[in-house]
Amino acid sequence: MGEAAPHVGIGVESRGESEVSVDINQVSSMCWDGLALSFIDQRRLPAELHWVRCETATAVSQAIREMVVRGAPAIGIAAAWGAVLAARARLCDGRGDRIGLLADLDELAASRPTAVNLFWALDRVRAALARISDAEAPAALEALARAIHEEDVAMNRRMAEFGAALIEPGKAVLTHCNTGALATGGIGTALGVIRAAWQQQRISDVYADETRPWLQGARLTAWELVQESIPVTLICEGAAASLLRTGRVGWVIVGADRIAANGDTANKIGTYGLAVLARRHGVRFMVVAPGSTVDMTLPDGSGIPIEERPEDEVLSLAGRRIAAPGARAWNPSFDVTPAELIDAIVTERGVVASPDAARMARLFGGG
Ligand code: MRU
Repeated sequence: MGEAAPHVGIGVESRGESEVSVDINQVSSMCWDGLALSFIDQRRLPAELHWVRCETATAVSQAIREMVVRGAPAIGIAAAWGAVLAARARLCDGRGDRIGLLADLDELAASRPTAVNLFWALDRVRAALARISDAEAPAALEALARAIHEEDVAMNRRMAEFGAALIEPGKAVLTHCNTGALATGGIGTALGVIRAAWQQQRISDVYADETRPWLQGARLTAWELVQESIPVTLICEGAAASLLRTGRVGWVIVGADRIAANGDTANKIGTYGLAVLARRHGVRFMVVAPGSTVDMTLPDGSGIPIEERPEDEVLSLAGRRIAAPGARAWNPSFDVTPAELIDAIVTERGVVASPDAARMARLFGGG
């Protein structure tokens, strides 16, 4: 991974240690320049807008693993572009190294385990490769990566309209992690719904969980919402129960990394707890995710692989150890919310209300 200059396509207005201001409608977390794939380094936001340039599939894998780019749809799009870099390196100029190319795809697939969008995108790459010659592959995979990115933009817009329509005006919403422009190809999943609901004057304001240990809520969601002047109030996860008891919040709205055939949903750790709290306090719970996040091969959430990340992410903060010496940490990156706690799964195909296997199958077919 190397460093890159800012790209055309991101409306940078100012940048500095404590102030990065952009036109969020123009933000894309990644940019293909014809030779390489560059990512906004999400680990450094909001203090710095810094781009990381990846010229190889291995560099893209590393960027995904190390959270330079994150969020289920964004990871899938990144993997599709990574496959283009792999095809160029392995197949151009008569090299014919399909075995090497498949190894590169496997390396991309191994970068993170939970978001099924990654495997969905790579399955599309493999299916395309099976139909085309070595000479055709680089251009065909480039067209595929572009299509995967553009499809995500369109799916975000449809989900935003479907989701916003469910929200009765007058209350706040609570969201978790970051599900916006940084996590997707477009305006976002849950955050896309929140954007649309705000524009339609359906919500009064937004509460965002800070989302330990990576602070996607405090650093990324708050940053995105501030750019659009949507009022956002951060809470520690531990404050969610008290907030929901006040009656100020009408919906908890979250994204997903993988949705099983019965509607069980894996998302950022802490989501399950929010769903339990929402049910306890009569607050509705919405999951927003494109079809690329639905895994109909898994009958329920028990089969979803849950990534466990290094202990140090919990024991330290901003690179400094905060925990007592000798303490250990358990750091699952995701949890599974049972479908029975979800009021609506919003997809680009429509809304699955009170999801179960039969209702999911109506939109997504069998496994
Ligand atoms: O570990 P992350 O930051 O990749 O986790 C992201 C999430 O859990 C998001 O909620 C999910 O990917 C949906 S993003 C549109």
